[in-house]
Amino acid sequence: MNRSISGAGGGRKARPAAHELARYEALFAARTRGMKSSAMREMMALTERPDVISLAGGLPDTTTFAPELYAKLMSQVAAEQTARALQYGPTEGMAVTVQCIVEVMAAEGTLVDPGEVIVTTGGQQVIDLVCKTLIDPGDVIVAEAPTYPGAVPTFSAYQAEVEQIEMDSDGMPIDELERTLDRLQAEGRRPKFIYTIPNFQNPGGVTMSLARRRRLVEVAHERELLILEDNPYGLLRYEGEPLPTLYSLDAEAGGAADLVIYLGTFSKILSPGLRLGWAVAPRPVLEKLNLGKQGADLCSSPVTQLFVAEYFKQHEGHGEPHWLGYLEQLKELYRRRRDVMLAALDEHFGEQARWTKPQGGLFVWATLDERIDTTDLLAQAREQEGVAFVPGRAAYMDGHRGSSSMRLNFAGVPDDDIREGIRRIGKVVREQVSLYGTLTGSSSAAKPPAESAPEPAAEQAPSLADVVALPRREQEGPARQRKDR
Ligand SMILES: Cc1ncc(COP(=O)(O)O)c(C=O)c1O
Repeated sequence: MNRSISGAGGGRKARPAAHELARYEALFAARTRGMKSSAMREMMALTERPDVISLAGGLPDTTTFAPELYAKLMSQVAAEQTARALQYGPTEGMAVTVQCIVEVMAAEGTLVDPGEVIVTTGGQQVIDLVCKTLIDPGDVIVAEAPTYPGAVPTFSAYQAEVEQIEMDSDGMPIDELERTLDRLQAEGRRPKFIYTIPNFQNPGGVTMSLARRRRLVEVAHERELLILEDNPYGLLRYEGEPLPTLYSLDAEAGGAADLVIYLGTFSKILSPGLRLGWAVAPRPVLEKLNLGKQGADLCSSPVTQLFVAEYFKQHEGHGEPHWLGYLEQLKELYRRRRDVMLAALDEHFGEQARWTKPQGGLFVWATLDERIDTTDLLAQAREQEGVAFVPGRAAYMDGHRGSSSMRLNFAGVPDDDIREGIRRIGKVVREQVSLYGTLTGSSSAAKPPAESAPEPAAEQAPSLADVVALPRREQEGPARQRKDR
């Protein structure tokens, strides 16, 4: 049966054929020409196919949430707050939900004024609203390379020009950022904002060092630039010390944060199905975000906002908030799954690839032999082996870079599926490498996995924080290194 990927899940219609599209072509706004589907969203449809092991989605594991608790809280909202739950709410969000957000931010070590919070329909809406508020066609955004694949179609839709700065194991190198800003300035261009995911970056899996965080906030102040700090994963740390948010560093620098727009979400610490996120922003920016949201959806769902408020009232017998206990449970589970994935990669990818070792979050970023194009590899992996991942190109605006990389989700997938999924991908990778070896006569034919793949010697094995695929840059001079780390 000839079905498109996006139609494969729920029996929805296949994409329109070219002749069908042509009929409407003249009606579409110019901005739609730059619009493209996020590969990640396309992959979401695969999660509904039981025959495919999907390591592609950005999924947390919602099976861990107790069904009785979900039912209890929902019935409580339904029975006790019927009219409120079924009514429109304020655009900026319900005060009871904002209180929960203040609590989550406090757990991130960040104090916020409830008056500077807006509740949104997922963190995704924050990215959209920030672009809607700040970006005219041709405006510049500076982002990491690779960047969040879900932001790529948003940036394209607003016709932004995105400068992507290649990361290393400490995240975005700020000296490189400054060089880019100097170049842009010489060209008479000024970025509207710098977009960064400092913790367990999606998709790179790396974390921005403290020194870089401090320097980034300094640079923003020196040059009067806004930062969009996207932080869905900060509380999902499996090892190492938590680092301060850019928002809190900005507040430290000037009394109140005035250059950082913070994006948070309940998606990864509770549930993405709620579709609830938030922004914390300087009031003039907040005001515009609010206007933009009015035009988008008037308000985020009161049903789920009240659910969150009820959830945050729950406490364990010893008084600890339930949400913090659940967070611990998620961290334990995801830590184990991360380790399962790293072990499976060692076994089945071996020398064919390098990959990041995230200290938290949901993703590993793997980079293969440069001759392998992971977009092609995905087609083969899906059809032949029933396994999916996000191809690296999805994380680059030009759709070309990142072609030999892939993003792998370990959090939303049971241990056995992680092992089996990585085994299957490893198999197609070896086939591809062998094929290149045969075609080019090169000696780099694929080595079989497991028993014959040598374990890295203990002293050579990268530490968990060591990122093999995103190495430190050699050209960085010693003086710069001191300043920048
Ligand atoms: C970096 C990043 N930002 C934003 C989002 C959007 O999340 P949501 O809209 O579910 O809050 C995600 C989701 O995966 C993400 O990884």
